[in-house]
Amino acid sequence: AARPLIDRYGRRISYLRVSVTDRCDFRCVYCMSEHMTFLPKKDVLSFEEIDTIVNAFVARGVRKVRLTGGEPLVRRDIMELVEKIGGHIGHGLEELTLTTNGSQLRRYAEGLVQSGVKRLNVSLDTLDEQRFAEITRRGRIADVLDGIDAAADAGLKIKINMVAMRGVNEDEIEPMLHWAHGRGFGLTLIEGMPLGEVGIDRVDTYLPLKEMRERLKAKYTLEPSGHRTGGPARYDYVAETNGLVGFITPMSHNFCESCNRVRLTATGQLYMCLGQDDMVDLRAAIREGGPDALDVALDRAMLLKPKGHDFVLDRDHTAPALSRHMSVTGG
Ligand code: GTP
Ligand code: 5AD
Ligand code: SF4
Repeated sequence: AARPLIDRYGRRISYLRVSVTDRCDFRCVYCMSEHMTFLPKKDVLSFEEIDTIVNAFVARGVRKVRLTGGEPLVRRDIMELVEKIGGHIGHGLEELTLTTNGSQLRRYAEGLVQSGVKRLNVSLDTLDEQRFAEITRRGRIADVLDGIDAAADAGLKIKINMVAMRGVNEDEIEPMLHWAHGRGFGLTLIEGMPLGEVGIDRVDTYLPLKEMRERLKAKYTLEPSGHRTGGPARYDYVAETNGLVGFITPMSHNFCESCNRVRLTATGQLYMCLGQDDMVDLRAAIREGGPDALDVALDRAMLLKPKGHDFVLDRDHTAPALSRHMSVTGG
């Protein structure tokens, strides 16, 4: 078998996140600014190129691929890519999944299932129509709720991602827990990360999830569950609502020691960390290099993977830690 991908700290890379487009039909206030400049379409990888790169990763031990964005389902003809990559499931690849804002799910749920997708993470930060319009700036909650229904009806397992923000949606964490668990969905709470200029004050809205977990524990029975998905979340089982609640805590608790993932941007840069600038250009490797160029680039990438991110969030750092938005690196 080909050499596995192991970095300088002994971490094995088994999870590839692929941003298929940096574009999105929403402009969430913690993710984007009102006026975003997107990558020129001519620089974006073709589906063939993405598939070539995914194949190289699978040959070297990647078992899980997640399509992200931007919003992955707004890329034209996206189902062609989903079908292509889905074809590798069972041949080295164990799981193909997506993180989506849900707006296009009504249209695509059935096709995703046909291609071998079994579960989805859907971002939903509020259940209130007005607040949803404010947070997403241009989304309609009815589309998302309808999309989620379609996905659930099609048999997809659903996890809701909620970026927890002080003074914005912290009052909805409990209602969201009941709503999600009542439908058999998991709920994962996420700490906002300082990526790119956006529409909210990151310091004011920062909600440490350690604190939130304590608040929930005062009211619910939270039992640490061993449930792992290969992502950074730690999950508790909530007895009262009979479901899992996950916590993703890049700011308050670092999980970098167990990091198993790398990220491909829509234009073919492989970022070794969400919170660092280290990258290799895989598009150049496939467009300009010889037959070994991709493997050589992956070896070089392993040497570049940093020990961890260095996000900081305080009044002395008013600029974002990284100017790159989450929608470029794919979350
Ligand atoms: P599961 O497969 O369900 O575990 O998904 P996941 O948590 O790997 O992926 P998802 O796309 O749902 O990510 C949820 C949030 O976690 C996003 O905001 C990601 O940016 C964040 N996240 C995922 N991986 C990392 C990571 O390695 N570092 C940091 N800092 N954040 C991450
Ligand atoms: N910090 C934390 N989460 C973010 N997301 C987008 N931008 C940020 C940020 N700056 C979330 C989305 C989605 C996931 C992929 O990332 O809501 O759930
Ligand atoms: Fe891995 Fe970087 Fe995420 Fe840390 S921040 S878990 S090193 S990708």
